[in-house]
Amino acid sequence: MSFPMLDLPYSPPPEDLAGPRVRLRQWRPEDREGLAAMQADPVVMEHLMPVPDRAASDAVADRITRHFAEHGFGLWVIEVPGVAPFIGYTGLVHVPYAAAFTPAVEIGWRIQKRFWGRGYVTEAARLSLRDGFGRLGLAEVIALTVPANARSQAVMRRLNMTHDPRENFDHPLVPAGHRLRRHVLYRLTRAAFEGGAEEAATGG
Ligand SMILES: CC(C)(COP(=O)(O)OP(=O)(O)OC[C@H]1O[C@@H](n2cnc3c(N)ncnc32)[C@H](O)[C@@H]1OP(=O)(O)O)[C@@H](O)C(=O)NCCC(=O)NCCS
Repeated sequence: MSFPMLDLPYSPPPEDLAGPRVRLRQWRPEDREGLAAMQADPVVMEHLMPVPDRAASDAVADRITRHFAEHGFGLWVIEVPGVAPFIGYTGLVHVPYAAAFTPAVEIGWRIQKRFWGRGYVTEAARLSLRDGFGRLGLAEVIALTVPANARSQAVMRRLNMTHDPRENFDHPLVPAGHRLRRHVLYRLTRAAFEGGAEEAATGG
């Protein structure tokens, strides 16, 4: 399938990105267990297209590692040192279809239910965004979800992303009539990210 893609020069990814509590790192073979368990949890998958079995979950891992190899960025494993080697993933990917807002790079996240509500995802997403606006030189990053996914939209807002309902759209990879077809779009410019990071640091 062909789709418009931002023309970004290849730069090799750092080995990891470390924050106060979380570490983003490359995938290891044993992470596939955690990924499969996470994607078999109906609570985690409530607002996502199903990943029906282990083979489909491994195909997700294959796509992630291929994206890193081809583009030098992608979905990192989120590790919480001293707590768990794999809690889920976050990172940046090329939007793999044509839409009104493409070409674009989007940020995504998915973590195991028992690690929700601790701020790990927002911290991890900030590390990935700093890499995207810095090393990769991105001017903007988008995020997408279904209107009902309030937790994901709360992360977007914590990151200083903004949403214009006029940009709501039908996801081209979701079949017509499917309950997950309608999506909301959030945007984050480099300036808004840097302003938000400053606010978080100064408590503003
Ligand atoms: C969407 C998802 C990643 C959000 O995870 P999350 O844990 O709610 O997000 P954060 O890591 O930012 O945590 C924020 C929460 O931690 C709390 N928190 C606790 N300790 C904290 C700390 N030290 N620092 C910051 N926040 C902290 C915050 O108050 C907030 O709580 P609230 O939800 O009660 O308001 C998660 O629900 C998920 O994986 N969902 C399933 C997959 C999915 O839908 N992905 C998105 C597809 S688009």
